[in-house]
Amino acid sequence: MSTILAIESSCDETSVAIIQQGKITANVVANQTIHEKFGGVVPELASRVHQQHIIPTVTAALSLAGITRQSIDAVAFTQGPGLLGSLLVGVSFAKAFALALGKPLIAINHMQAHILAHFIDSPQPPFPFLCLTVSGGHTQIVLVKDYFDMEIVGETIDDAAGEAFDKTAKILNLPYPGGPLIDKYAQLGDATRFKFPIPKIPHLDFSFSGFKTAVLYFVKEQWAQNPQFIEENLNDICASVQDSIVQILMLKLKQAVEKFQITHIAIAGGVSANSGLRNALLAMEAKGEWKVYIPKFEYCTDNAAMIAMAAHFKFQKQDFENQYVAPLPRWHFGT
Ligand code: KG4
Ligand code: ZN
Repeated sequence: MSTILAIESSCDETSVAIIQQGKITANVVANQTIHEKFGGVVPELASRVHQQHIIPTVTAALSLAGITRQSIDAVAFTQGPGLLGSLLVGVSFAKAFALALGKPLIAINHMQAHILAHFIDSPQPPFPFLCLTVSGGHTQIVLVKDYFDMEIVGETIDDAAGEAFDKTAKILNLPYPGGPLIDKYAQLGDATRFKFPIPKIPHLDFSFSGFKTAVLYFVKEQWAQNPQFIEENLNDICASVQDSIVQILMLKLKQAVEKFQITHIAIAGGVSANSGLRNALLAMEAKGEWKVYIPKFEYCTDNAAMIAMAAHFKFQKQDFENQYVAPLPRWHFGT
């Protein structure tokens, strides 16, 4: 039996969750709007806003769960990967809080936590399963054998899928983060209208940088002929871009299923909120080929509930850290 307070601060969301006896009883997320006008997260600004958000977010989570800090048995935090300055705020707060309470610390890998978000609610995928983890910084196919026994079997060699969405959005003059907006306009557009190249990358790896450049040149050329091109065709451009990104992801996922002969397929990370990707997976399930696991929207993008869930499993193993623990901005699990 345990009550754990978990902190997520790897990028631009400050989030605090409480998990009690394996059930999430609070998950508060404070977003940062300051980055919108810059077209991407500005690390220095992100860490400063985390500093402003951390105490009110912890207070809100405790009050939502209806508990006092004295009832906390452990303090968990995202150790990496992520932005160093952002991670430092969460790690430093967690260390000070745990020291003051005299309770243990639990360090969590953000990418593993995205996958473990599948254990917050039912139905839960059975081991082994394959997880396509698609976020703003990562694109991975992970063979998940147990809660912390995970092998990355394919990943991007350059940009992440989320970056492909965000950079395309920037080309289309949409604010950051562009993924949700591309998704919104795509639902009104014709995905067959424009064609973009599908890269040929060996094994189960991905590449999105050539795709992004192809979109950039295409839009520039069209714009030179018609300065209203983006405004007049926004829905169709978004639908075509989204369809291509989903095709790139699904192609490798199908290869992974073939290779490992595993048909329990999960998706995780911010891009798993994408309607095109969700529909592509559901179509495979409808054909009777796969059993798919799609997290609730609030557990797709960055949140501390997933950190809390991962911490719950580490607490059971008494897997604790000491006060010397430091952020690992480039932590690549499995290596
Ligand atoms: O996992 P996440 O919240 O943060 C990271 O760990 O990076 O992922 C953020 C990424 C951003 O690139 C954002 O544009 C993308 O997820 N995203 C989406 C959607 N919602 C969030 N991309 C496509 N469609 C969406 N609906
Ligand atoms: Zn994330």
